[in-house]
Amino acid sequence: MLHNISDPMKQRMRALEAVDAHDRRDGTPHLQRMRQIPPETGKFIALLAATAPKGRFIEIGTSAGYSTLWLSLAAKERGCKIITFEILDEKVRLAEETFRLAGVEDTVELIAGDALDYLADMRNIAFCFLDAEKDIYRACYEAVIPNMVQGGLLVADNAINHRTALQPMIERSLADERVDALVVPIGKGELLCRKI
Ligand SMILES: C[S@@+](CC[C@H](N)C(=O)[O-])C[C@H]1O[C@@H](n2cnc3c(N)ncnc32)[C@H](O)[C@@H]1O
Repeated sequence: MLHNISDPMKQRMRALEAVDAHDRRDGTPHLQRMRQIPPETGKFIALLAATAPKGRFIEIGTSAGYSTLWLSLAAKERGCKIITFEILDEKVRLAEETFRLAGVEDTVELIAGDALDYLADMRNIAFCFLDAEKDIYRACYEAVIPNMVQGGLLVADNAINHRTALQPMIERSLADERVDALVVPIGKGELLCRKI
């Protein structure tokens, strides 16, 4: 899976990595920034998704589609789609461009809108990557966990660099008897939960 990334996908990944690095240096306003995961987190979520049980793959927070490209590798390997949610029109436009240039339009379903409007109806979730605004993490967690298949995996980004903001959700997951959970020190810190 990681050895067979197409040249167009590699080129789009490199381009988005350059934009993201530039955003972090030049003070680009928060809402305009890509705010992407680093490549090692991309590999981590792709490997986890590839080993998830049968069911839907979803992502909450697409931005320009960088993390979605990593998840599309796992979706392609598994013969399913990755459904990704993005609320901002400008980011939707960038993500559409990403998926077209990387040649993954048949593997990715991009839903433009507020993920919270859709999650209650999203059944049989086998893998979820949560990477949106910190104030909706807890609501997303509560909506996703009941809809996960047994053995399903939820990964939430920023569990270390935004630990204070995410503490209510992290504490909830560590005490939640519906899941086994821990914080993995990779990238910005990934909360990993497995549905029991
Ligand atoms: C940290 S960025 C995602 C970065 C992306 N996962 C990556 O690594 O390439 C968070 C994104 O979530 C989007 N977002 C925030 N709240 C949302 C919501 N309620 N529904 C869907 N998208 C949302 C933001 O507009 C932003 O583009």
